Amino acid sequence: MYSHISVMLPEVLEYLKPKTGERIFDGTLGGAGYSLAIAKAVGPTGEVFATDLDLLAINNAKKRAKEEGIKNLNVINDNFGNLAEIASEFGPFDGAVFDLGLSSAQLDDEERGFSFQGDRPLSMSFNADNAEGEETENILRYYNLLKLTEIFRVYGDEPKAYYAAKLIVEYRKQKPIKTTGDLLEALAPIMKGYHRTNPATRIFQALRIETNKEYKNLENALAALPNALKPGARVVFVSFHSGEDRIIKNFFRQESQDCICPSRALLCSCGHKATLKIITKKPLIPSNQESAENPRARSSKLRAAIRI
Ligand SMILES: C[S@@+](CC[C@H](N)C(=O)[O-])C[C@H]1O[C@@H](n2cnc3c(N)ncnc32)[C@H](O)[C@@H]1O
Repeated sequence: MYSHISVMLPEVLEYLKPKTGERIFDGTLGGAGYSLAIAKAVGPTGEVFATDLDLLAINNAKKRAKEEGIKNLNVINDNFGNLAEIASEFGPFDGAVFDLGLSSAQLDDEERGFSFQGDRPLSMSFNADNAEGEETENILRYYNLLKLTEIFRVYGDEPKAYYAAKLIVEYRKQKPIKTTGDLLEALAPIMKGYHRTNPATRIFQALRIETNKEYKNLENALAALPNALKPGARVVFVSFHSGEDRIIKNFFRQESQDCICPSRALLCSCGHKATLKIITKKPLIPSNQESAENPRARSSKLRAAIRI
């Protein structure tokens, strides 16, 4: 059973505005909540092309589409970071949506080590069968103190990043870190005295981002976006932590300007032309009701733009 509650679905549809006959790209199929809703909105003359790295998500979506009699959803087991290639085959698109991170089904999967509840093998790859990027265990075994500190600080916003990295380096001298339980044991001293967000949440998030090269994939997709979209096409991003949101915000800002020369330049020499018009001045956040009903939605932010 693949279970995931879509975050801000009405808002996504409001900003994406899928219309009859359109071809829309969904970079993150997950539980197929967005994809199926968009497939219905574009109708039988339109099509949805949705990627996911996770075969469990792919198979679940095929099953759901069949059950609901939806024939215009094309599921692709690929990385959205390959958007340039995907768009050259199926695009350009009339719209695109990305709902970043992991699904609840992945978080709750007993076989995977995404969550620190229970004692599971440390495999945080989105792809259950074929690990993309570094295996989490190898990151914890081979990365040096500085590299671990950097990951925890940049990807996890962990204020005690150096301390956490030091604890891991000390622990692994005695015993390899192979399971979520080992990792929690290594981090035990840092967990004392925390009452609000558990630091393990931030460390796990950082390791997941590094394992899946999430920032690199996002940057690759963003770079391919202007060519992947038709003029007038809309793009919507839903992100779940500040680092990701910053990358999207900066990209939107850059792509909404005609000149991106440094401010001290007297004459423009970049030749850059704006490709996007931002339609969310500030990011949208979920309603109090949604956050209360689905705690996973709490940290989400939605940004949208139109291809010029
Ligand atoms: C938050 S879920 C998407 C949920 C979906 N919008 C829904 O309504 O059910 C994110 C999904 O994106 C997938 N994913 C993450 N990074 C990816 C990437 N670079 N390429 C393809 N899929 C990716 C994950 O495997 C996960 O299934």
